[in-house]
Amino acid sequence: MLLGLRGVGKTVLLNRLSEIAEASGYLVVHLEAPEGQRLVEYLAPGLKAVLLQLSKVEKAKDLAAKGVGALRGFASAFKVSIGTLEIGVNEANTADSGNLELDLPELLLAIGTAARAADKSVGIFLDEVQYLNEEDFRGLIVAMHRISQKGLPVVLFGAGLPQVAALAGEAKSYAERLFDYPDVGPLEPDAAMKAVAEPVRAENAEIEEAALSDLAKITQGYPYFIQEWGKHTWNVALSSPITKTDVQVASQAATEALDKNFFRVRFDRLTPREQDYLRAMAELGPGPHRSGTIAEKLESTVENMGPLRSALIRKGMIWSPAHGDTAFTVPMFDEFMRRAIPTWNPTTGSKKQAKKKPKKKAKKQQIPKT
Ligand SMILES: Nc1ncnc2c1ncn2[C@@H]1O[C@H](COP(=O)(O)OP(=O)(O)OP(=O)(O)O)[C@@H](O)[C@H]1O
Ligand SMILES: [Mg+2]
Repeated sequence: MLLGLRGVGKTVLLNRLSEIAEASGYLVVHLEAPEGQRLVEYLAPGLKAVLLQLSKVEKAKDLAAKGVGALRGFASAFKVSIGTLEIGVNEANTADSGNLELDLPELLLAIGTAARAADKSVGIFLDEVQYLNEEDFRGLIVAMHRISQKGLPVVLFGAGLPQVAALAGEAKSYAERLFDYPDVGPLEPDAAMKAVAEPVRAENAEIEEAALSDLAKITQGYPYFIQEWGKHTWNVALSSPITKTDVQVASQAATEALDKNFFRVRFDRLTPREQDYLRAMAELGPGPHRSGTIAEKLESTVENMGPLRSALIRKGMIWSPAHGDTAFTVPMFDEFMRRAIPTWNPTTGSKKQAKKKPKKKAKKQQIPKT
């Protein structure tokens, strides 16, 4: 389970891992959990493809047909369409109790058994794991636990926001030992500089050391930011070598592009009250912050802010690095929030504006609409 903030390179790593698996002969299922969609809807079609491949292996044919019976039962119990399947027509449907915690293990065990007979391994690659709901995550954990107990050749690789470790633990306590949770963080300065210098050199151009170190500093080593800043620096540079000044000139366009493509899309998905909560956090700096301190900023209590905080965690905007702590999942989101809402205090917050009519006195201070 690759865990890290937004834009650190989890998806890039997960894709690379699945390429390696495929090159080593794994049967690969590559999935991304869309927010609000159930696991069975996208998992079942992916597993169908695996079973079709296994059914082509002579010594695994019968077990693959059994697997198809399990998939058919599974799909009908959870009302998922998997289209027609020519194999396993005589097999009884199994894995169809309608309880995911029973059916998913049964299905994956059937697939694992067929894979073992075929001398094949199955790799399930699942991105955005934090969007699994608790029931789905529990089903998946139980299934992988059974697979590992039986030593079957099915491996799960996941990627997601840091809250995944806690979500897994809440779903099943043994999930902590079932997975490894490598932390994917920003690049070290040397690696950040290399990430820019190498593609520049590949284009037969040069970039000054000072420009590289400025890029590493500004982006704090976050891959997505390096990508954006690197692109705009390249575009503004008129000649080689690319200089420190080019980096400076590119900064405005890079910031605008990040605001538009990276920050704004996330900001726009939030309710005014959620924006308020994040703006209060931003007022305190990059974080992490004590949840109590944030509530104080909002002139409220931890209890009252609880549901709002939970909703923001579910939306993948914040997470809890330690009990009672709250941090952004998007690097430098505090800076963006202060750019997006330059002047803020709890009484100008959107929540209170909506409720209270502004008093006459306060009206004077309102900023006129432009
Ligand atoms: N090791 C790396 N070196 C240089 N650039 C990288 C590296 N990894 C990722 N990037 C750049 O960062 C961008 C973001 O990476 P990626 O989409 O994998 O992040 P992520 O962690 O999956 O983010 P999110 O949580 O938003 O899905 C990539 O498109 C790529 O340009
Ligand atoms: Mg990603």
